[in-house]
Amino acid sequence: MIIVQAIDALREELKSWRKAGEIIAFVPTMGNLHAGHIALVKRAQALGSKVVVSIFVNPTQFDRKEDLAAYPRTLAEDCSKLQAGGADLVFTPTPALMYPTGGLATKVEVPGISELLEGASRPGHFTGVSTVVCKLFHLVQPNVAVFGEKDFQQLMLIRQMVRDLDMDIHIEGLPTVREVDGLALSSRNGYLTTAERKLAAGLQLTLREVVDALHKSRQDYAALQAEAMQSLVSRGFQPDYVEIRRTVDLLPAQVGDENLVVLGSAWLGKARLIDNIPLTLK
Ligand code: PAJ
Repeated sequence: MIIVQAIDALREELKSWRKAGEIIAFVPTMGNLHAGHIALVKRAQALGSKVVVSIFVNPTQFDRKEDLAAYPRTLAEDCSKLQAGGADLVFTPTPALMYPTGGLATKVEVPGISELLEGASRPGHFTGVSTVVCKLFHLVQPNVAVFGEKDFQQLMLIRQMVRDLDMDIHIEGLPTVREVDGLALSSRNGYLTTAERKLAAGLQLTLREVVDALHKSRQDYAALQAEAMQSLVSRGFQPDYVEIRRTVDLLPAQVGDENLVVLGSAWLGKARLIDNIPLTLK
C-alpha cells in the first residue's frame, strides 16, 4: 500500500494505473476509520482493480471550530486498517496542500438539497463537502466512488453534483454499518461517555419505532415526528430533528409517497449523532 501526501506524486501514480487500464475505485474519508469505512473499502475492492482512499479532515465543512479541533486524527492506526482492508493507495493531503491560500475562490454549491436538514442545522457544511469532494474527484479521477448511507443527505448531494456536472463517476451507496445494539458506527461515537454510550442506541430505536408505525399505516406524519422527538427526550437526548422525508428529493413526505427515509439528529452530551432508516411503503 502506497501512502502519498503530495498532489504531484498522487497524479504521477494514478496516471500510470490509468495507462495500465486499472479501474480506480475511490473512498473519501476524514480518517479515524472504523468498520463502516472498511466496509466501503471492501466494496471498492469488488468494484475496481485499484482502491484509493483519501484521509483529509476537511476544515471547510466544519461549522464549529471546536468540532474541527477535537476531530480525532489517527493516521497511523488508519493506515494499518487500510493495509489490512486491501487499499492500494492512501492520499493524506494537508490543509495547506488542499487550500494553499487558506481558502478557495471557487465553490461547488448544490442548492436545495444542501439547505435542508443537516444543511439547515450546519450552515455552510454541505458547500464544504461538495467542494472538497469535487476537488478530490478531480485529483483521483476515479471510475467509481463509494459512500455510506449513514450520511444519507451527503450521498444524495454527491449524486446530484455528479449528475449536474456530468462527472463520469459511478456513485455507489452502502448501507449503514452498526454496532450490535444498533448504534450506527461513527467517529463521533468516541465523544460519548460510558453512560452516554449505553443510551446512544436510543436514536436508532426511535427511528425504528417511526418506521414500524409507518408500516402499520400511520399517516399522521407530523404527529409521528413530534412523538419521536418526545421519545428522544425521554431517552436522554437533546433532539435536533426527526423527519419523515421522501427519498427522491428529501422534501417532507406526503401520504401516497412510497419511497421514504426517516432521518434523525440529536445531541447526546458532546456528541451530535445522526442516523436514518430508508423504507418502502406499498
Ligand atoms: P467520514 O465521516 O470519514 O465518512 C467517510 C465515508 O464513510 C462516508 O461516505 C460515510 O457516509 C461513510 N460512513 C461513515 N460511517 C458509516 C457507517 N456506520 N456505515 C457505513 N458507512 C459509513 O463523510 C465524510 O467523511 C466527509 O464528509 C467526506 C465525504 C470525506 C468529505 O470530506
